Amino acid sequence: MSVNHQDLLSMSTSYKEYLYHTIIHKTARIGVIGLGYVGLPTAFEKAEEGYQVIGFDVSDFKVKQVNNGTNYINDIDDTTFNELTKVRKKLSATSDFSELSKVDIVLICVPTPIDEYKQPDLSFVRSAAESIAEHLHPGMLVILESTTYPGTTEEIMMPLFEEKGYTAGKDLFVAYSPERIDPGNRQFGIKNTPKIVGGVTDNCTTLAAEFIGDVSYPVSSIKVAEMAKVYENTFRFINIAFANEMAVLGEKMDIDMWEVIEASGTKPYGFMKFFPGPGVGGHCIPVDPYYLTYKAKELNQNTKLIELAGEINNKMSEVVVNRAMKSLNQHGKAINGSKVVVLGVAYKRDISDMRESPILPILDELANANAEITVCDPFVNQIPVNNEMRTTEKYSKRLLKDADLVIIGTDHTCFDYEEILEESKIVLDTRNACKDIEEKYSNYIRL
Ligand SMILES: NC(=O)c1ccc[n+]([C@@H]2O[C@H](COP(=O)([O-])OP(=O)(O)OC[C@H]3O[C@@H](n4cnc5c(N)ncnc54)[C@H](O)[C@@H]3O)[C@@H](O)[C@H]2O)c1
Repeated sequence: MSVNHQDLLSMSTSYKEYLYHTIIHKTARIGVIGLGYVGLPTAFEKAEEGYQVIGFDVSDFKVKQVNNGTNYINDIDDTTFNELTKVRKKLSATSDFSELSKVDIVLICVPTPIDEYKQPDLSFVRSAAESIAEHLHPGMLVILESTTYPGTTEEIMMPLFEEKGYTAGKDLFVAYSPERIDPGNRQFGIKNTPKIVGGVTDNCTTLAAEFIGDVSYPVSSIKVAEMAKVYENTFRFINIAFANEMAVLGEKMDIDMWEVIEASGTKPYGFMKFFPGPGVGGHCIPVDPYYLTYKAKELNQNTKLIELAGEINNKMSEVVVNRAMKSLNQHGKAINGSKVVVLGVAYKRDISDMRESPILPILDELANANAEITVCDPFVNQIPVNNEMRTTEKYSKRLLKDADLVIIGTDHTCFDYEEILEESKIVLDTRNACKDIEEKYSNYIRL
């Protein structure tokens, strides 16, 4: 059924009613700002649901890729992507932000990084909100999905919209709904992960929840929604730090903490398993807690636990390198001049994302100690080592045989761990990747 939006608008008694109809009939025109790990899958899902979607990005490369029907995100099905863009023409992209004047609902999925002083960088959110404000029209629903500290939507975005004479809940609807995409997770995706949503007013929450659909979990305010996202990621950050601290203690006490955590995990209530590792990586867990500490400082409030957790997690690169030195030493070798092969550099299993990867500082420290490093990661071609780009090598038995030490940095499923244990002189496993097969190997060290 083709719907004339002007007719629908004039038939509706309010902008809320108009938007509600466009949502239930899937005739609302959707804009997604930022076509990265979060924005592209979101745009794709909405196009698959039947909406007409325009993606907006400042990267001409990404815009061209989308319009050529070429998918660049692992979790999206290439064939369906091509069909939605090239055949059914449900999804297109542009860097012309005046096209925002043609959309009813706009989702903001831009980056929210931290700077070198661990201060939030909200310039991308601000710039996206300014683009929307410039092309705002009555009856628009704006949903911020980027992770940020409580207060961002109302303190940074709303004033830009109010300056243009709009009132939230009447002629404009604004909500916050954090994305929980977990790249590479085959069990939980956009369709089956609950999505928290909070609006500036009740009307904003209702419309945004209707748009999000069955998975929506409405909360009483926008600040609760903003806090829930940073809270859940900070919870993870702190618990990983605890596991890391215990792993260091475990080594001193000659207790395998991995086995301890599995054993504690048999308690059917009140315990959740978190494992040690080389640190924390990705665009979220090592970044988001600092949004909270920043906001707390503004209120003269300390967040000691978060800061301590950050210190412990950041120290893990040093722990790994010390363990590497110690194990080489036990074999009569110094790290200086030793051949070290690092398997996996992405921040987690089976993905190519290297952002904030904890393996990167380990590589820097190994290079500073004059180790001869070779890195293999089938998902990554180039890696920075002390700010210089290097090319990764193809994994081979020969590399393992030649190495004095092999460090498992990322537990990609494509690595043959039996072969790694068989062919290497020493294996330092930072991820428990050799679980259940390592017992008969005396060359194996678990972090
Ligand atoms: N990656 C994840 O797994 C994940 C999961 C949950 C939440 N998040 C959050 O989602 C947000 C986006 O993360 P991401 O991983 O998709 O980032 P990303 O870097 O992969 O993608 C962001 C995109 O936004 C574009 N962009 C930047 N400024 C823009 C502007 N002013 N207008 C239009 N486009 C612009 C960039 O070119 C890029 O393509 C962040 O706040 C992040 O914390 C990420």
